Amino acid sequence: MHSYLELLEKINQKIAASTYGQKPAELYDPIEYMMSLGGKRLRPVLTLMGCNLFKEDITSALPAALAIEVFHNFTLVHDDIMDNAPLRRGQETVYKKWNMPIAILSGDMMLIKAIDFLAETPNSSFNALLKPFNKAAAEVCEGQQIDMNFETTKDVSHEAYIEMITLKTAVLLGASLQIGAIIGNASEADAQHLYEFGKNIGIAFQIQDDILDSFGETAQVGKMIGGDIAANKKTLLLIELLAAAHKDDKKALENLMQASNEVKIPGVLNLYKKYQIKEFAEAEKQQYLTLAFEHLQAVSVQTERKMILEKTAKDLMERMS
Ligand code: IPE
Ligand code: IPE
Ligand code: MG
Ligand code: MG
Ligand code: MG
Repeated sequence: MHSYLELLEKINQKIAASTYGQKPAELYDPIEYMMSLGGKRLRPVLTLMGCNLFKEDITSALPAALAIEVFHNFTLVHDDIMDNAPLRRGQETVYKKWNMPIAILSGDMMLIKAIDFLAETPNSSFNALLKPFNKAAAEVCEGQQIDMNFETTKDVSHEAYIEMITLKTAVLLGASLQIGAIIGNASEADAQHLYEFGKNIGIAFQIQDDILDSFGETAQVGKMIGGDIAANKKTLLLIELLAAAHKDDKKALENLMQASNEVKIPGVLNLYKKYQIKEFAEAEKQQYLTLAFEHLQAVSVQTERKMILEKTAKDLMERMS
């Protein structure tokens, strides 16, 4: 079995060796830029791990791993337009560095290239891979639209929030593992348990993303801190604050939401601290980790082969970037 670092190295080599196209440069340069900015490469590593659980040689999972990373990067290019975000991975976002039409079209091309890469998987039925890939991709779009709808929705329930982040974030982590497992010739039941494992890790992953957006350090996160507060995102933090705040603080919060970012961001952060909202979100994360582990346990391979996934999941809960 390969270690986390070995798998990361393999996907980084695969990305470095991949090309997307040349002319016109305005279309392809942003793709090279985005793919070269790095990032954790979590999803492709999960694909390789999903395969490696069942198969020693993971070479055949590399095209699909690349496909999933390119798809993920496409969603980030468009997400940054939707979220009005200036920074990504510590650098200018594509629509800021170039412009919005370029970011839209380069993103579209990344989606096309992702499918091309997926089709390069040897010895696997393309349909068997495309189905889970496209299911997750369509759900990401649904989640992203719901996320934006919620910016102007007053009462978003905890349940509706979990459903939204399941779609926009968690299903892709699930599909990354599932697709790797399929390439590794896993049984359908095992591939499904890995999907559920990844999905629950993904929910916890997005809760951590929400925490970092308010409590992280720009130098580590590589994004603008307070962006979610600025955009009135209905994150778990805000939903829980709305539920916990006393009458006067609730009124203050409603006023803050109309204020300028200079007033709003520190004001909302103060209320998060007052009501220990971060601690609440940390506990919620742990619940999804527990759920995830139930599914990992059900995968029918030796326990020691699964330890790498267990460790990866635990590390993700503590991530600072
Ligand atoms: C960011 O994903 C978008 C979310 C779903 C939260 P990552 O945190 O995996 O971003 P990179 O790829 O490491 O930059
Ligand atoms: C990301 O949610 C979901 C997708 C990109 C599909 P966020 O909007 O919270 O991600 P970041 O924080 O910008 O990375
Ligand atoms: Mg977003
Ligand atoms: Mg965003
Ligand atoms: Mg975020």
